[in-house]
Amino acid sequence: MTYQTVPYDAFLRPTLARLDDPGLFLVSQGQDGRTNAMAIGWGTIGIIWGKPMFLVLVRPSRFTYSLLEQSDSFTVCVPAPSQYDALLYCGNHSGRDEDKLAVCGLETVPSLRVRTPGLAGTPLIYECQIVHHNDILAGNLQGSIISEYYPQDNYHRVYFGEILALRALPDAEVLLEPARC
Ligand SMILES: Cc1cc2nc3c(=O)[nH]c(=O)nc-3n(C[C@H](O)[C@H](O)[C@H](O)COP(=O)(O)O)c2cc1C
Repeated sequence: MTYQTVPYDAFLRPTLARLDDPGLFLVSQGQDGRTNAMAIGWGTIGIIWGKPMFLVLVRPSRFTYSLLEQSDSFTVCVPAPSQYDALLYCGNHSGRDEDKLAVCGLETVPSLRVRTPGLAGTPLIYECQIVHHNDILAGNLQGSIISEYYPQDNYHRVYFGEILALRALPDAEVLLEPARC
């Protein structure tokens, strides 16, 4: 499975569409090399400090959070339809309790520019270097958002990942086509 490097914005539309539904894989790796994946539905891609940036929001209760705190990188992997079940699993189980990659039969593929690997067979892999993080502050947040999304605090930490590479499978476009009825 050979990936090719493409411009960071080559697949913006399908990436953002899948962020909304069904979600994307956020892959993190601890100092000891343990690799984990969770589902994310919140995030964005844009330009900050003149750099292409992937922003992801992670609650402190996630195992992923503890791995990101030990790391300077993450990858965001856009799933193929055949990987949606695994994505759902990774979004409903914690790597604190089990090796989700092994359970889901997900294999890793080394990254080109960051230490955290990607997930093999995902059509797109964003390789991101963490350049900043920031916490959502209750005092600066609209009250209705607090009551809807933060009844138990657990305010997200926003990780700013500079996109150092976007890698695509040769058939990424076909894999990411909208489903035909
Ligand atoms: C579709 C979907 C999207 C999700 N989006 C996020 C998100 O953006 N941020 C977050 O902190 N948790 C999100 N979650 C929840 C985590 O994926 C979930 O709590 C997961 O079990 C955490 O795994 P971990 O403990 O191994 O890190 C999402 C779950 C699903 C199913």
